[in-house]
Amino acid sequence: MSAKRLLRLFPLPCAETGLNNIYLEEFGWHRSDPDKPVVAANFVTSLDGRIAVTSPTDPGMGLPDSLTSREDFRLFLELHAQADCLVTHGEYLRKLEDGKLGNILRLPDEPEFSDLYAWRRERGLAPCPDIVIASSSMVFPLPSSVKKGSTEQKFYVATGKATDQALHDPWHRRGLEVLQAGSSFAVEGGPLVAELARRGYRNIYLVAGPKMLHTMIRDRQLDKLYISVSHQLLGGMDFKTMLDGEPLKPCRLRLNSLLLDKSSDNGFGQFFTSFECTYDE
Ligand SMILES: NC(=O)c1ccc[n+]([C@@H]2O[C@H](COP(=O)([O-])OP(=O)(O)OC[C@H]3O[C@@H](n4cnc5c(N)ncnc54)[C@H](OP(=O)(O)O)[C@@H]3O)[C@@H](O)[C@H]2O)c1
Repeated sequence: MSAKRLLRLFPLPCAETGLNNIYLEEFGWHRSDPDKPVVAANFVTSLDGRIAVTSPTDPGMGLPDSLTSREDFRLFLELHAQADCLVTHGEYLRKLEDGKLGNILRLPDEPEFSDLYAWRRERGLAPCPDIVIASSSMVFPLPSSVKKGSTEQKFYVATGKATDQALHDPWHRRGLEVLQAGSSFAVEGGPLVAELARRGYRNIYLVAGPKMLHTMIRDRQLDKLYISVSHQLLGGMDFKTMLDGEPLKPCRLRLNSLLLDKSSDNGFGQFFTSFECTYDE
């Protein structure tokens, strides 16, 4: 993977560039802003906008294998490595417990990714970011694969103020702080980022789905959006796109980088794009 080359199409001039470190350094999102944390998200999509589909063999909604690639995973981890806090959600932990998804709340303990741990160490970051689990139901497990890192990773639950206090108690008993970040049952972006800023977090990475992305854009909290666009069409009637929720006031995306991978290890080409998010007054 270290020798993998990409073509940088933007910013101009076009040039060949290496894959490794491109999101860690040149087009990274890590910033230490004393005023407001930076919030970043990453998605991989087909050219017809599918981020998840059902299939004849698996009626559950999921990321199709054809969208995954080693190249995209490496860049996903480079973005992950820059975070002091990850925001995930209850459904992810339910799927992790059921063995439907792997643990992406920690960087992999593999020699191939040791440079990411070194990068964090050099910047005074803990080996793994702390974790926020957004949930309205507040009913989800903490699987053992997640708890493995719990001595060095702090966990929070984030929810709306209207949720039943009785649902908070089990989490308090387990030593997790419950962040009340929203006036109803759902988490809202502004209060969540404010709670995290108060606790000193500066680089917040969404490892969540279309509902949390919608929440963060609706509430004008998302700063950086990374989208990998795989050169394939998936079709189908049941699918998810990046956003799930009511119509939004358009969020303006200013192109920051556009990279071409002519052929990823999955056999498809792909664009790696990154954007700055701006919001009209
Ligand atoms: N291709 C990609 O890059 C990509 C990325 C992410 C996800 N996906 C796929 O997309 C599909 C749907 O995504 P998903 O299941 O990850 O996420 P989702 O449908 O957006 O949200 C799932 C859960 O997150 C919690 N949640 C979301 N927003 C919340 C809010 N504002 N306040 C409180 N809780 C909130 C809720 O948990 P509770 O039920 O506990 O209340 C909700 O059930 C999945 O198949 C997934 O694999 C693809």
